[in-house]
Amino acid sequence: MPDIGPFDFGSVEPDELDKDTERLRHILLESVKVLEKDGDRLINLVESILLKDQPSERDPVSMEQYKQKISSLSNADALSISRILSQCLNLANVAEQHHLVRSVLKANLAGEDLMYSCEHTLKSLIDEGISPDTIYNAICEQSIELVLTAHPTQMMRRTLIAKNNAIGNALSELEKQLTDYERFEWEEELNREVKATWLTDEIRRKKPTPEEEAQGGWSILEQNLWHTLPRFFRILDRTVEKYTGRSLPLGFTNIRFGSWCGGDRDGNDNVTADVTRQVCYFSRWIAATLFYREIDALLFELSMVKKTDSMADAALAANERRQSNKPKSILTLYKEFREGIPEKEAYRIVLAEVRDKMLLTKKKYEDLISGQTPCPDDVCYETAEEVIAPLKMCYDSLVAIGGKAIADGRLLDIIRRLNCFGLNLSKLDIRQESSRHSETLDAITTYLGIGSYNAWSEEQRVEFLLKELESKRPLIPVDFPCNPRVQEVINTFRMAAELPKDSLGAYVISMCQKPSDILAVELLQKVVGNKHPQRVVPLFEMIDDLVRAPTTMESLFNIPWYKKRINGSQEIMLGYSDSAKDAGRLCSAWSLYKAQEILTKLSEKHGVKCNLFHGRGGTVGRGGSPTYLAIQSQPGGSINGRLRVTEQGEMITAHYGQPGMALRTIEVYTTATLKQTLLPPPAPLDKWREIMDFLADVSSKKYRSVVRDDPNFVRYFRASTPERELTHLNIGSRPAKRNVLNPTIESLRAIPWIFSFTQTRLILPAWLGVCDAFKEAINKGWQQDLVDMYKNWPFFSTTVDLIEMVLMKTDPLIALRYNDLLVPFELQSKGKELIDLLNETVNSVLSLTSHETLQQENKLLQHFVSIRRAYMDPINYIQAEILRRLRSQHVDAMDPILIDILIITINGIAAVVNSVPAFQWYSLVTNLLLHVSEVVIKFKTLLLLPDLSDNLL
Ligand code: PGA
Repeated sequence: MPDIGPFDFGSVEPDELDKDTERLRHILLESVKVLEKDGDRLINLVESILLKDQPSERDPVSMEQYKQKISSLSNADALSISRILSQCLNLANVAEQHHLVRSVLKANLAGEDLMYSCEHTLKSLIDEGISPDTIYNAICEQSIELVLTAHPTQMMRRTLIAKNNAIGNALSELEKQLTDYERFEWEEELNREVKATWLTDEIRRKKPTPEEEAQGGWSILEQNLWHTLPRFFRILDRTVEKYTGRSLPLGFTNIRFGSWCGGDRDGNDNVTADVTRQVCYFSRWIAATLFYREIDALLFELSMVKKTDSMADAALAANERRQSNKPKSILTLYKEFREGIPEKEAYRIVLAEVRDKMLLTKKKYEDLISGQTPCPDDVCYETAEEVIAPLKMCYDSLVAIGGKAIADGRLLDIIRRLNCFGLNLSKLDIRQESSRHSETLDAITTYLGIGSYNAWSEEQRVEFLLKELESKRPLIPVDFPCNPRVQEVINTFRMAAELPKDSLGAYVISMCQKPSDILAVELLQKVVGNKHPQRVVPLFEMIDDLVRAPTTMESLFNIPWYKKRINGSQEIMLGYSDSAKDAGRLCSAWSLYKAQEILTKLSEKHGVKCNLFHGRGGTVGRGGSPTYLAIQSQPGGSINGRLRVTEQGEMITAHYGQPGMALRTIEVYTTATLKQTLLPPPAPLDKWREIMDFLADVSSKKYRSVVRDDPNFVRYFRASTPERELTHLNIGSRPAKRNVLNPTIESLRAIPWIFSFTQTRLILPAWLGVCDAFKEAINKGWQQDLVDMYKNWPFFSTTVDLIEMVLMKTDPLIALRYNDLLVPFELQSKGKELIDLLNETVNSVLSLTSHETLQQENKLLQHFVSIRRAYMDPINYIQAEILRRLRSQHVDAMDPILIDILIITINGIAAVVNSVPAFQWYSLVTNLLLHVSEVVIKFKTLLLLPDLSDNLL
């Protein structure tokens, strides 16, 4: 390898990961040299601004010179340097993802007993004395729904994600046994993709439409999950059979998918009724296309002539129907010309009918999408059950003639896919803010001359809503005149009523505060004559609303009409991100914990099955947590085999972007849910609850005193972070604020709030309030209790560990640079105060965890962060400087090159600090590799990472 010594950090032991990172970096730098006319000079320049020392080793004098050097960079050089550095970070991430997939594979090949695998979990449950029957029933009853959302947190363009996957794939191929020629080909491929990445624009030049966001979700479902799920079911089936003696029933699926892409209209006027309708049609069209291909392939495979009598009869009947179906589609004619179907081949005859009907179903959605008259409903499929019935007949016949091995091939996979994906791949939820429904009802009651709904008390609203829900006469005339906002809400309800059954999932009400918010949606569904109304799901997301949630739900459960309507089952969504933005991470976590406990008990009391829907983001400040820990640290009894959870933005790529990872993610969801259900964690001691109440109270007071009560805070926040400039990012289809005219923290959505502070490395929302809470608890004499809680209570230790992990990514000196360069002089003391508080918080967390340095035992994460600091810290210094330059220009005359640099630096920092994918990965892989005795250790993933490094390095 040619000497690119300046990039050699020396202190890191080379291993497979480092070798891959080095290899990719080398290809990149060589590419820059060849592709850029002053490539050599640029590489030298980059070398001169890398920060190879760790922050504690950086000497103040040379740092001053360093800042000067950054300030003197020309815009053109700053752009090239930012691109090179952020590409280095990107390639380090690719190498690392590949490394982690390789680690799982190696462990599998070595036959290791992987933590959280189906094998490990079932074995450990049996060892714990759980009976095989109990395990079997719990698996059969398990229901997990993963809801993919279009939250604007994936910074990377899909084009680049695809290139990254190609690079990762080439790395994997190069590890296989290859001929010289094949090796040469894969090396070429690696070179090609890295070069192509460099030559691709990393910036999204326009905002995605909701339809494009939906495409992102479909591509993951189609390209990865479609193939992963049958593999997973096979693994689970084999393991269940091994430990319980029974295989999974034919109709089994424990996993389903939901989606918010194209359905979530909360604060996003771009998601209209027409958009949702088109997205639903497209989703069904993709599903029909995929099933068509599979059934066609199955038809070719099932050439057997031996069959049961009922199969023979079914084939006869199908043949007669097919003969009378004229004219046939050109595709059908072609296929029959190609294959022909002899009369003996009953399976093929039955499947040909299924295939043709699926083709018409596909055609129906093509016509609907393009505005043509669709073929009649009775020649198409509407529900998955209609397709399963003939397939099941084939299955039973094959089993009966001794062909179970044949039946358990592609046929079983298709049946399982139908159970899992249905005929729409994922069911689309609708989300809308509660105030839009009251506004609509207000328009109706005002038009009818019966008063203003918005002016009524809660009691009057509930009384009105119930009366109308039970009334037989229509509430609004067809031509009810109203403003466009109200019309859009009504159109949405009408559209939902017209869509095929099973297209939609939940109707989620954001900012839900009272019973009338839920009844209002029920009434609007009735008003439009929806024959298959969606289940209505309140989303409680502010602390006060979470505290009031049990009262809200109890009032509803006490209403006979409502109790009948929900038919024994209620879904409730919990908002992690907004509650954290409202009162800080500590208070939010505890409020959510308590709400889950109380709502579960309340539902039990009313004989209702409570399904909690967790609205978690990826980052810690938005409720993010590694999957296994997140599930295990929920209160005992709150999951009970049922889990619904959002998978947002960058987490979708991290969890499902590669087939190997998708398989592990699904496996971990399954095993963690199973374990939480059968071995729920013990309830916390009363003393711990008292302390947690106290910590939540003190921390939220401190948090709110800074964020809400300090009159200068909003100005400080807007000056010190790139919040104002985030509009250039084009990350998502929705605006960053619910109320665009109102520049308060309340009006800002949680994502840009957390994102902005993450960029400056202060990451304030994740830790503000924690230090005061710990300090005051210690003053009350609870020091030892805190230590006990940390050692013995999964919920508390997980919360503290996550905060410690975030603190490790903060950097007071970098935060100070933003303060010095961007904040008006009179507000700089505010920034310094917060940076001091950050340092204090680090100390208080260290003293609680008894660590000398943050994440001290977590060598692998330290390695991960320290390698990246060399690139990331310079990017931060450049970003602060570029923001300064941008803000000195008139808003209408900003230099576009500065905006490009800003976006590239934002992407680069976000790729490391903003997301926890890598962190998630570590927890998944390390937990899998650890051999631990349960309870105490299982929750301490982070602290156990050294074991991983032993395994990997
Ligand atoms: P929301 O989500 O703004 O869509 O409610 C917030 C988040 O996920 O952080």
